[in-house]
Amino acid sequence: MELFDVYPLYAITPTRAKGVYVYDEKGTEYLDLYGGHAVISIGHGHPHYLERLTQQMHQIGFYSNAVQNPLQQELANAIGEHSCCHDYQLFLCSSGAEANENALKLASFHTGKKRVIAFNNAFHGRTSAAVAATDNPAINAPLNQQQAVTFLPFNDEVALEKELQKGDVCAVIFEGIQGVGGLDEPAEKFVYDLERLCNTYQTCLIADEVQAGFSRTGTFFSYQKYRIQPHIVTMAKGMGNGFPIGGILVHPSIKAKYGLLGTTFGGNHLACAASLAVLETLKNENLQAHAKTLGAYFIAKAKDIPGVKKVKGRGLMLGMEFDFEVAELRKELIYTHRIFTGGSSNKKLLRILPPLTIQQKQLDFFLEELKTALKTIAQ
Ligand SMILES: Cc1ncc(COP(=O)(O)O)c(C=O)c1O
Repeated sequence: MELFDVYPLYAITPTRAKGVYVYDEKGTEYLDLYGGHAVISIGHGHPHYLERLTQQMHQIGFYSNAVQNPLQQELANAIGEHSCCHDYQLFLCSSGAEANENALKLASFHTGKKRVIAFNNAFHGRTSAAVAATDNPAINAPLNQQQAVTFLPFNDEVALEKELQKGDVCAVIFEGIQGVGGLDEPAEKFVYDLERLCNTYQTCLIADEVQAGFSRTGTFFSYQKYRIQPHIVTMAKGMGNGFPIGGILVHPSIKAKYGLLGTTFGGNHLACAASLAVLETLKNENLQAHAKTLGAYFIAKAKDIPGVKKVKGRGLMLGMEFDFEVAELRKELIYTHRIFTGGSSNKKLLRILPPLTIQQKQLDFFLEELKTALKTIAQ
């Protein structure tokens, strides 16, 4: 049987990974500045992660949500402690799209309304309402186009209020820092406008922290650079360091009732153990502060590299913008310099999403290799 061919692939076959490095079948070492798309938070094969998952596997790996699972409460307590969202409620699922799907559904149940506002260049996933709220017509099938979604630019408070005044909007969904879209952020004032206007017009504000959350940007959630309280926060990626887990945090003003949301796999024992291991490691190794410090270091150094127009992002969610498309540069970096980087829908942006355990010397190494790669592709 052939694979359904939906991914353009690099000709590399990772068979092993440790820390910030990935190794192919011949043992060639690659520096991982992509983290499998911002998923690897505490590093590949972290000893504490391996130990917790192994122990859990020997006890119980999975049972459904029909019985008590104390690990879910343990995880809720730990997320509450890290995020300070103590009074929110946790619902667990298995991916970023599923988290956004549940968030949008819950917003619609809660408000009784059905239109969604999302922002230009947003990416929220590939399922029903999540893909409809994603600003990419190429991945939005006719079935998904039935969802009512309006796209607005960031920072246009007047346009936002005009839409909300119509009274049919259940949710405004935004990324604190856009990932796939290319590292753009709403202005501080607009973030406060979002909160105020959503409260005025009984609309749920959803912060999509699927990529930016779990300490990647130097705060636990990227929106926490500001003092806002979204109604729903969605998370996944770094939450499990590679184990599929997602979740939503639900503001106490939204009440649960049986049957409102549900899942077979969400919150299973292994997933909870993986996420607990991530949170324990973030704390033990002080990785959130580390991400913040290294991000500032990287931005200061990267700005001086000839050809770099702009450095975007925060913490270890970073982008370097050039005045040319970076596809060739990424190939040169991966095949000649053995460095994984990311792309985005902004074709001129190179994305840097390393494990949060990366060290300054590894960033320095990258910046030196980048200078050489830039010279090579200019020839
Ligand atoms: C901000 C954001 N939301 C949602 C998703 C979808 O997550 P998943 O691929 O786990 O469904 C992504 C994936 O890149 C993302 O970056």
